[in-house]
Amino acid sequence: MTKSIEQILLQDQFTKDDIIRLLQSKDEDEKALFVKSSDTKLKYVGRNVHFRGLVEFSNICKKDCLYCGIRASNSAVNRYDIADEEILKAAKFAYKNKYGSLVLQSGERSDQKFIDRIENLLKEIKKISNDELGITISLGEQTKETYQKWFDAGAHRYLLRIESSNKELYNKIHPNNEEHSHETRLKCLKYLQEIGYQTGTGVMIGIPFQTYDDLANDLLFMQKFDIDMVGMGPFIEHDQTPMYQYKDQLMSLNDRFRLTLKMIAVLRIMMKDINIASATALQAIDPLGREKALRIGANIIMPNITPTSERANYLLYQNKPCIDEGADDCTNCMEARINMADGVIGYGEWGDSQHYQKRK
Ligand code: 5AD
Ligand code: FES
Repeated sequence: MTKSIEQILLQDQFTKDDIIRLLQSKDEDEKALFVKSSDTKLKYVGRNVHFRGLVEFSNICKKDCLYCGIRASNSAVNRYDIADEEILKAAKFAYKNKYGSLVLQSGERSDQKFIDRIENLLKEIKKISNDELGITISLGEQTKETYQKWFDAGAHRYLLRIESSNKELYNKIHPNNEEHSHETRLKCLKYLQEIGYQTGTGVMIGIPFQTYDDLANDLLFMQKFDIDMVGMGPFIEHDQTPMYQYKDQLMSLNDRFRLTLKMIAVLRIMMKDINIASATALQAIDPLGREKALRIGANIIMPNITPTSERANYLLYQNKPCIDEGADDCTNCMEARINMADGVIGYGEWGDSQHYQKRK
């Protein structure tokens, strides 16, 4: 006999079939899922929402992911690289406004100059914040030595999305060459964990060719890998990328949005004490998208504190929100939004994943 959604939700652990049922749930069943995930969040991580000030400091990228607006082959992009002083200014802003922590993200590069520059920047940020600002980096695939160097310089969390745990699907959305290999991505995640980073990963939801089976496997992958943090968001097509050719095969934006909320909800129940980010891409679909994610299970939000002049050039996907606001506007707007979602901002805290604290 097939189990009802109520029966599935009484369990603490899910099989792949359970997860697929939950991801396909609708109406009352979907509501029951969200009630359970929201209760789980309140019980295990509380109402605190942590800020990570996001600095997208450069859109120069050597990779050519078939879905990404800043891929190397997109010659329509205005490339930028924000000066170190500007990055440090943003870090000071985050520190002064008690954000607790900062995320440095850019396109992928691995030249020695870049590696050394990041090392110096990390040390500088630690210095200007009296060692208080937590630092997450999201700078793609690197050697273990580089990851270690950046860890020693002060970074303690790393975000590297697996994009899809299914190797065949991964290969369909990336160029078929050594630079874009699923094995390397996995190996990098292992290095990060071995070095001692709080390790974050994630997937895109609603990519062409993706099935419910793939998404259920993605969640099981995260659980098995024992990750500390997750950022997953809806895939949003960009018309200057090769993947745009499949736009007519995609599910509706609204369905991608609902499915992302369900992925977050199921993962919250499976991994109760991890940090789950409310992805900015949710807001590109629904103006209140990020608040909705906070209500049903996410506990991290990443206000954009990139200097405004360059924000419009970091378009991984189209219709990206908040590209005109200054950092101050973002903070005020975030406060109002989080209060609306019944959350409390964890000002001045690093907001480490409790999962990581127990794991170490
Ligand atoms: N739609 C949604 N997310 C995207 N990313 C890149 N391109 C897109 C897109 N078109 C995500 C990837 C990457 C992260 C930085 O942004 O998952 O890991
Ligand atoms: Fe830059 Fe994928 S296009 S990492």
